[in-house]
Amino acid sequence: MPASLNPHPIAVFDSGLGGLTVLRALRARLPQEDFFYFADTRFLPYGDRPEAFIRERGVLIAEALARRGAKALVIACNTATAAAAEAIRAASPLPVVALEPGVKPAAALTRSGVIGVMATTRTLHSERFQRLVGDHAAQHRVLAQACPGLAEAIEAHGPDSLPVEQLLDAFVAPLAAASADVVVLGCTHYPWVAGMIARRLPAGVMLLDTGEAVARQLERRLAAAALLGGGDGRLVVASSGAPVSVGATVARLWGSKLPVEHWEP
Ligand code: DGL
Repeated sequence: MPASLNPHPIAVFDSGLGGLTVLRALRARLPQEDFFYFADTRFLPYGDRPEAFIRERGVLIAEALARRGAKALVIACNTATAAAAEAIRAASPLPVVALEPGVKPAAALTRSGVIGVMATTRTLHSERFQRLVGDHAAQHRVLAQACPGLAEAIEAHGPDSLPVEQLLDAFVAPLAAASADVVVLGCTHYPWVAGMIARRLPAGVMLLDTGEAVARQLERRLAAAALLGGGDGRLVVASSGAPVSVGATVARLWGSKLPVEHWEP
């Protein structure tokens, strides 16, 4: 079978197109892998939904991705990780790599002792996030800044838009005022607006996202399971939303057109 027909891609999923910021790091580190990216656009945003809903949906998606022939699964969504990572791991036969806000590296980097974390309401209210802060940043001041509406606005209007500018004005100002010197991008949509966040903070404030750490972790997990390699960089993008409109948003964020299929887990 030609490598381009490799039936075992790595599945990556998010509520929408934030996970593409993670996918970019995964493909840069693992060019010999094929990827299947799933955006659960029909249910975006996860960030305002009940935990039980995200858990059930996450397990359903993970099971469908395994049936579709994925060899590993990356949960490229902080909100889905917070609500569903344990349930997905319990239900999935695949190696599962999840991600969480970079509070641990932030705690090692801060000099002012003030760390800002931008994330969805659901992520910040989760037990998992409370534990993360307690375990790694208890000695610091952690400002948990919920950003309701931001992921949807990035997708609906594009990063460079008035609604996004207005939301960022409101969400970043408290972090600047409190002298945070590290700001964690705790939602995979936010790297799309990293430059706009940086412009609202004093020079020298570090922004942390977890794409590269996830790529290293995925590489380790694949190597440990003898699953590394075998593809040729093929990428399929699918969405539970309407392919034409999702395709337009993908093109705007990714910077080039990618075909988008409809897929219902
Ligand atoms: N991209 C998702 C995350 O990393 C959240 C966006 C949403 O609310 O669905 O948390």
